[in-house]
Amino acid sequence: MSVIPTIQKALVLPAKYAEYAVRTVPVPRPGPGRLLIKVRAVALNPVDWKIQKNGILYHEFPAIAGSDIAGTVEEVGEGVQGFALGDRVIEQGAFTIPTSGFQQYAVANPAVTAKIPDGLSFEQGATIPVGLITAALGLYTRGLPPGKELDHGSAGLQAPWEEGGRGKYTGKPFFVFGAASSVGQFVVQLARLSGFSPIIATASPHNADFLRSLGVTHVLDRKLSLEQLRAEIAKITKEPLDVIYDAVSLPETQLAAYELLEPGGTLVLVLYSAIPAEKLASEPKKRVVKAYGQANFPQENLAVAAVLYKHLTAWLEEGAIKPNRVEVLPGGLEGIPEGLERLRTDRVSGVKLVARPQETA
Ligand SMILES: NC(=O)c1ccc[n+]([C@@H]2O[C@H](COP(=O)([O-])OP(=O)(O)OC[C@H]3O[C@@H](n4cnc5c(N)ncnc54)[C@H](OP(=O)(O)O)[C@@H]3O)[C@@H](O)[C@H]2O)c1
Repeated sequence: MSVIPTIQKALVLPAKYAEYAVRTVPVPRPGPGRLLIKVRAVALNPVDWKIQKNGILYHEFPAIAGSDIAGTVEEVGEGVQGFALGDRVIEQGAFTIPTSGFQQYAVANPAVTAKIPDGLSFEQGATIPVGLITAALGLYTRGLPPGKELDHGSAGLQAPWEEGGRGKYTGKPFFVFGAASSVGQFVVQLARLSGFSPIIATASPHNADFLRSLGVTHVLDRKLSLEQLRAEIAKITKEPLDVIYDAVSLPETQLAAYELLEPGGTLVLVLYSAIPAEKLASEPKKRVVKAYGQANFPQENLAVAAVLYKHLTAWLEEGAIKPNRVEVLPGGLEGIPEGLERLRTDRVSGVKLVARPQETA
């Protein structure tokens, strides 16, 4: 095992709305009950540009972002069981400086850390944590405190890792807006594990074959109008759409999803609701919830995520869950800002952008 340095390179946000810049900063220390990870690959997420452009989530600076982390265990904190030095793992940053992935070392919570099977690279592994947890928490978290559904909610389905959960919804249709997005790809795979069929999804037509390989049965062009979508769905199924997951949650996709949803059903969003309040009030039987894709907190998320993480290595080995396709960015941490700009301007399609922090000059 390599000696852990005291300083490292990090992509730092020096102040609210400032430009990201590579700086030398201290290596974080893990403390009891935590792991220190050498970050071999970090995937980019839309939240990482929103942190910079919209000034969200971080209030102390300099800050470090980056949530999708793959690497090796370099230090095992006191009391941690089940992990050893050198283990190849994936885990999710928690929007704090020590836990974030746009740096060469990060601190992880072992309860939501999983080993990567031999057949998967660090880069593939890094594509999994945020997308999978956002999909899973939005579908399967139960017992959430009432009244916060538009901030932190779920369809409340039985999870495929629970007894009788795999295949439980056989014969029921499922609709995903934006199946080619990172979150959407995991929604599709979980819907397949839950047994839903048909799985109907919107995407750009060039992603159709890829999405069928993940479990989508019918790919509809993302450019179709609501009336065209309705007509296409009628040709596919006569069953009601009780669960719709809108993995892009643009105002227009939210409205279309809401119209297609059966009364009594649940629409899961990934962004705040843009559905007019009067519309929500006039159709009270349609539930609208927003997933909150953070494995580390609050406690209801951590409880569900910890169980999912216990199953994750086996699912990856089995191929039940496949990572996103990867595009590696050049230049280590230096390559991240340009990648974030491509995400912001909708210039990434069906792949996850991944950086290798150890390659930073
Ligand atoms: N609530 C949370 O905790 C949480 C967690 C994670 C992400 N999010 C949010 O969820 C959204 C998706 O994140 P992500 O990382 O999955 O995004 P992403 O992978 O960067 O999404 C890119 C994909 O979105 C698809 N897309 C864009 N506009 C579309 C439209 N009108 N209809 C259908 N597909 C469309 C494109 O599909 P095609 O290539 O097929 O055109 C593209 O491949 C972001 O807004 C993100 O901030 C929220």
